[in-house]
Amino acid sequence: MIKLIGGKRLNTAVFISGKGSNLKNLIKFSLKKNSPIKIRFVVSNNKKAKGLNFSKKYKIESRIFTYSNKQITENQILKHLKKREIKLICLAGFMKILSKNFIRNFQGKILNIHPSLLPKYRGLNTHERAIENNEQYSGCTVHLVNSKLDSGKIILQQKVKINKKDTAKTLKKKIQKNEYVLYPKAIKKLISTL
Ligand code: GRF
Repeated sequence: MIKLIGGKRLNTAVFISGKGSNLKNLIKFSLKKNSPIKIRFVVSNNKKAKGLNFSKKYKIESRIFTYSNKQITENQILKHLKKREIKLICLAGFMKILSKNFIRNFQGKILNIHPSLLPKYRGLNTHERAIENNEQYSGCTVHLVNSKLDSGKIILQQKVKINKKDTAKTLKKKIQKNEYVLYPKAIKKLISTL
């Protein structure tokens, strides 16, 4: 659990690779009156990530890291995070796997949102697999990041009903709507005010 000292907002970085709809949602959440976070930095491994438009729009500093060498890149990212006194990292569609060493620097302080009811359907193509297996429910999970893919401690989950007519596309849309509610709730749960 992360404690807030004197009601100060926690400096937060969001890591993205693509569309950034969760980034947009987290920015809006951070701007609310009683929000426990302040988004200070956006990291992207993809210079074409559409989500970078949101950091521009809301005047949040962002930086692209090209990942030609993972270890060097992660060390650069860590320096930038330390410089900005980042205390919480929210992964939001970030398509790179963080190394053990990186995670050790932010133990218990990296969150991820995953589009399935973990531990079911770790990895990619979660909606296709859930439909193929005739699951009645799928959903989304916010969890802490550890060194194994999509395996860290679960903070919150939201179930979503799969209808007979659902395709991977319609299910993704339904689940994402729930993600926008779940991620802020999970952040609030992780951060407890003194
Ligand atoms: C989300 O659906 C999340 O579950 C997964 O990646 C997707 C990112 O979407 N980890 P967006 O870039 O936030 O729109």
